[in-house]
Amino acid sequence: MDIIEAIKTRKSIRKFKSDPVPKETIRTILEIACRAPSAENTQPWEFVVASGELLDTMRQKNVEKLRNFVAPPEEMAHLMIERPKGSIFRTRQIEIAKKLFELMDIPRQDLQKRAEWLERGFRYFDAPVAIIIVADKTLPIQGTALDVGSVNQNICLAALAYGLHTCIENQGITYADVVREVARIPDSKRLMAAIAIGYPDWEFPANQVQSEREPIDNIVTWCEI
Ligand SMILES: Cc1cc2nc3c(=O)[nH]c(=O)nc-3n(C[C@H](O)[C@H](O)[C@H](O)COP(=O)(O)O)c2cc1C
Repeated sequence: MDIIEAIKTRKSIRKFKSDPVPKETIRTILEIACRAPSAENTQPWEFVVASGELLDTMRQKNVEKLRNFVAPPEEMAHLMIERPKGSIFRTRQIEIAKKLFELMDIPRQDLQKRAEWLERGFRYFDAPVAIIIVADKTLPIQGTALDVGSVNQNICLAALAYGLHTCIENQGITYADVVREVARIPDSKRLMAAIAIGYPDWEFPANQVQSEREPIDNIVTWCEI
């Protein structure tokens, strides 16, 4: 698969087959992904790869908190910040949610179905593997986030070469206390991202979703003399 095709093919997958992914394959993907650039080659990323019973425990504990309406810990408060009402960002967010709910046949007023849908993310979309990207807290968040973003995308693209698909997900690190406890991540590390990874279940309606992008002329300013 060439690079342009890979970029165009990648999409978020929200249900995976239960087939296990060989540890060696994940290792190879991470090794390739780490060719990502980083400011002054600081390589701020570190990975915690969860699978098997450990991942199942994480799913279970996340869902338990969600069902009990437990608020995320303070360190994840930024994930709760809503996009301003009426903003283009909010509009895009609503558009993708509408598309997913339509594919999944979830009516707006069906709170039970909506709650079930929400839980999926907290279960890492039933993926056999979840990659948690962490970075040392001594590093400044802005630059680190940019560097981690590069490695994040590289993981998603490299995965395709092995028939694997992904979903980057905030939901997977929302209950940081659960992730820390189960995967034994020390307080000195910041939880940056979770990536669910596995073989996609193409029968699952939401996996057909095609997210929109803003036409390029709306977001480019050409500066010329
Ligand atoms: C930082 C980040 C966090 C995300 N968190 C979630 C999430 O918690 N749940 C989810 O279903 N999708 C999540 N996504 C996936 C986005 O919804 C998705 O990338 C976007 O709708 C564009 O769709 P595409 O990835 O299929 O191109 C996240 C993506 C990023 C980059």
